[in-house]
Amino acid sequence: MFSLPNNATIIEVGPRDGLQNEKNAIATDVKLNFIKALQDAGISEMELTSFVSPKWVPQMADAEMIVKSTTKVGRQFVLAPNATGVERAMEASAEAIAVFVGVSNSFNKKNINKNTAEAMARLAPVVAKLKDEGKFVRACISTAFYCPYEGKMEIEDTVALCKIFASWGVDELSVADTIGMANPVESYTLFKRLKKEFPELLLTAHFHDTRKMALANIFAALQAGIDRFDTSTGGLGGCPFAKGATGNVATEDVVHMLESIGIHTGVDIDKICQAAAIVEPFLSKSIDSGQYRLFTQKQK
Ligand code: HMG
Ligand code: MG
Repeated sequence: MFSLPNNATIIEVGPRDGLQNEKNAIATDVKLNFIKALQDAGISEMELTSFVSPKWVPQMADAEMIVKSTTKVGRQFVLAPNATGVERAMEASAEAIAVFVGVSNSFNKKNINKNTAEAMARLAPVVAKLKDEGKFVRACISTAFYCPYEGKMEIEDTVALCKIFASWGVDELSVADTIGMANPVESYTLFKRLKKEFPELLLTAHFHDTRKMALANIFAALQAGIDRFDTSTGGLGGCPFAKGATGNVATEDVVHMLESIGIHTGVDIDKICQAAAIVEPFLSKSIDSGQYRLFTQKQK
């Protein structure tokens, strides 16, 4: 009836996307304990932090310490917006780099102070150097469905941006619903098209959960052949420069949905909730994912 994979990969983005929008300054030690607990829960791919301007995102100012103090488990990404960010990441011995550009000019101006063409022109030599050095490069495509400033994006514009990254030889495209506005038909349509265009690339879906549609969008993406999902423990997250952005879809809820329909993830839900419990006391808001609520009720 449904076309579903046997296995799916969870790319945990909590320590990066999850915390970047958090108002409280979280101590580096708490972040490191959170990361360790996520590794212990079976997470094999994770975004650890981002080498962005600390003036723009103070929460990520400890990126060097985070990378240097984390034991390597599986594939660990760091985000970098430009050559300076990549240099910092290389000095910290990061091995997998995530670069990011949105489809929307207005979003890019707010997020990275460049329009799309300017951002891509500056990134081209940076990505070429990373590929020459044999690094794994993930390209994050923001506002692939909707922009908070320009509204609905044209599917052809999203595909065109992905094609440029593909021509640079990136290893992965992580395609994002930055403000959580997509619906399952849009998810299926875009990911089906991307699977056809880029059969050789790792394709990942990155959903924020503003309208509580992310699980439905993931189910639609599964139907389109996607088996990699960016998720954030506790449903934390959001881009500080995307008006109206809310948290990412919660890792524990995605793992529960996938496992309950027979898709193996290798991730332990209770241990993910234990990781969430490490960071929750330091957050400005409480965690309210379905699985975390069940977990805390069980503890009482
Ligand atoms: P800018 O102010 O235009 O930078 O910011 P600049 O190139 O003009 O340089 C100004 C100063 O910043 C210089 O220092 C640079 O050295 C320094 P000064 O000479 O004044 O002392 N600088 C840096 N310092 C540290 N690290 C760097 C860096 N670059 C320059 N990498 C910039 C441009 C891109 C840096 C800034 O806009 C920025 O950091 N933006 C990042 C915003 C961000 O982190 N957004 C969230 C991540 S994206 C996201 O969440 C979306 C995603 O989840 C997918 C989705 O959901 O859509 C991935
Ligand atoms: Mg995001």
